Amino acid sequence: MVTRYDTIILGAGAAGLMCAARAGQRALRVLVLERAEAPGKKILISGGGRCNFTNIGAGPGNYLSANPHFAKSALARYTPRDFLELVERYGIAWHEKTLGQLFCDGSAKQIVAMLLEECAGGEVELRCGEEIASVEHDDGFTVTTQNGAFTAPKLVIATGGPSIPKMGATAFAYDLGRQFGLKVVEPRPALVPLTLGGEEVLFRDISGVSAPVVATANGAGFAEAALFTHRGLSGPAILQASSYWRSGEPLFVDFVPERGPEWLLDAKHNHPRTGVRTLLREALPARLADILADRLGLDGDLGNLPDKALRSACERLRRWEFRPNGTEGFAKAEVTAGGISTAELSSKTMEAKKIPGLFAIGEAVDVTGWLGGYNFQWAWASGVAAGEAL
Ligand code: FDA
Repeated sequence: MVTRYDTIILGAGAAGLMCAARAGQRALRVLVLERAEAPGKKILISGGGRCNFTNIGAGPGNYLSANPHFAKSALARYTPRDFLELVERYGIAWHEKTLGQLFCDGSAKQIVAMLLEECAGGEVELRCGEEIASVEHDDGFTVTTQNGAFTAPKLVIATGGPSIPKMGATAFAYDLGRQFGLKVVEPRPALVPLTLGGEEVLFRDISGVSAPVVATANGAGFAEAALFTHRGLSGPAILQASSYWRSGEPLFVDFVPERGPEWLLDAKHNHPRTGVRTLLREALPARLADILADRLGLDGDLGNLPDKALRSACERLRRWEFRPNGTEGFAKAEVTAGGISTAELSSKTMEAKKIPGLFAIGEAVDVTGWLGGYNFQWAWASGVAAGEAL
């Protein structure tokens, strides 16, 4: 027996639940099919369990995509303030942590409960533990799982990206997109720690040390903390830059963003009896200062060191070149960059241009946000865009 709906949504994550709620409240009969035993798993672990549910400053410039204009329409029509209003309507206490990042005071569970309540406000049926065996398309879409066949004239792909596979994340969205002839922009791990090899393994000795830096990859720079790890580099500045970094390219780190461009020369003038190592220790954690001083190889008092050598040390410290040999992969990536090509979709509705009735939203699409609530904002905004167009 085939059960009929107005819309079937695959995936009960952030985007799928938001889309279901919108469509359901428009009196559509919506079925959400989720592979996991419970909805919203990534929401529950996000933001250290407090869910960084949006960023108050989110705008198109905070996203990576082959088409940087694609996200504009959806983001403009469903803003961080709109989501915040929903959060407040449910009496969920929140706070701004830093850089516009909004978190629950209590628990991410409140966000999942809110989305489920919103779904319950419409005709939404959520089925978890469903293994999708096939998706067929003739007049409408027929989805077959171990529990039967479901059909609808509209189908929404909201199964996210493959980052953190141990949580059940899959590349299903891309397989399905390809099945329908949609192009997929090569997926790659983003917001991910970078690994160091060769001579740079030396930095592994200071695993656990962190410092405020500006990390730059491919021209995109982020002023936040960097953290040295037993495999290489992490911390918010590195995670942000990692989304822009491409294999084989350098990553530049400014270790002294607060110091002037010629601070070692100024120091030579004012404190000629001081050494480079001592000055670095004033600016940075001691173990990091020592490793940088060793690699600069400038021993002795500043007064005895040539200006040229000090000028070049300043330049190096402001643009320290790392050559990461890779990333920690999808296993550690907070998100996946790439995905179903935006060229295939309407930026207003998220509907596939060549397959009317098929939609793709959230992380499945080639739109990837910075760290700090931007990815959820895209999930909400794209979910609403589709939910209102279904
Ligand atoms: P999402 O991954 O949320 O949902 C996809 C759903 O589809 C899942 O429920 C999955 O089980 C289901 N599914 C997969 N394959 C399926 C199949 N074959 N059949 C049926 N269902 C299937 N972002 C942010 O803005 N602020 C934050 O604080 C964080 N924190 C954070 C922490 C960690 C550890 C991670 C891994 C990620 C974050 N993120 C984040 C990113 C954010 O979680 C992510 O971008 C959104 O959840 C994407 O929403 P989607 O709905 O697109 O996918």
